[in-house]
Amino acid sequence: MSSPAILNGKNAVVTGGSSGIGLAIAQSLIEAGAKVMITGRNEERLNEAVAQLGDNAFGLAMDVSKEADVEALLQAAQTQLGPIEVLVNNAGISPWFTRSEKVELSDWQAIIDINLTGVFLCTRIFGNEMLGRGKGSIINITSVGAHAGLSRQVAYCAAKAGVEGMTRSLTKDWAARGVRVNNVAPGYVRTKMTAGFVDNEALRADLLQSTPMDRLGEGAEIASAVVYLASDAASYVCGTTIAVDGGWVAT
Ligand SMILES: NC(=O)c1ccc[n+]([C@@H]2O[C@H](COP(=O)([O-])OP(=O)(O)OC[C@H]3O[C@@H](n4cnc5c(N)ncnc54)[C@H](OP(=O)(O)O)[C@@H]3O)[C@@H](O)[C@H]2O)c1
Repeated sequence: MSSPAILNGKNAVVTGGSSGIGLAIAQSLIEAGAKVMITGRNEERLNEAVAQLGDNAFGLAMDVSKEADVEALLQAAQTQLGPIEVLVNNAGISPWFTRSEKVELSDWQAIIDINLTGVFLCTRIFGNEMLGRGKGSIINITSVGAHAGLSRQVAYCAAKAGVEGMTRSLTKDWAARGVRVNNVAPGYVRTKMTAGFVDNEALRADLLQSTPMDRLGEGAEIASAVVYLASDAASYVCGTTIAVDGGWVAT
């Protein structure tokens, strides 16, 4: 789906590239000519994904919510690939569906640590290097939950909306210095994160009712928007969000 070779010579990091949407993004970036380092906490799943992606894929097991791990990721990526021009902040979790009044502080914190603070840490640490070279594209994978309320997902929605706020602030700070920051906000795609939800007939019918295209998305459809934002074709695009959601937020 992506133009061949649009990312030739570019090096990218995809956090959470060992599964689901992140794996599809890594695949599309490689097909467009990039070399890609993917991450995830589970080393076995990560190694399988690297093997599946082929010669232009590299992997590092790490946790985006730990500053020392993110520093180690930068070092490993620069050593194995070279300067990193594209960062995709895709790693995320959504482990619980809990009524807002029952959410424990520890559960709130676990989601904020990975889905919001993890994005900040990766962006600051990789962004500093990009600013030094005056060139970079950072793409955050947010959600329809940044734009519409999702029931029983108060921390998830707060984190995703927080990332979109962060993107606007970073754009004021960095756009004139050559680093573009944007978001891609997916609708529902069947992955490890969502399988339990979308495979439930009643819940699936409910979410399709909010989706004018009346179907789930595919990882490759999210990845096409990421490839565009990573490329020089998007050289005047910064501080914005591309919704890839079958029309969800339009309704
Ligand atoms: N699927 C959807 O319908 C949907 C819709 C809107 C937005 N999104 C967003 O899309 C992104 C990808 O989700 P997905 O559906 O593809 O989920 P997924 O299949 O569960 O993949 C999540 C990835 O993130 C990694 N990860 C989780 N926590 C991490 C951490 N602390 N440090 C490093 N890696 C970590 C996971 O690996 P380990 O578990 O091994 O760490 C895995 O590689 C998320 O940000 C999600 O919020 C998904």
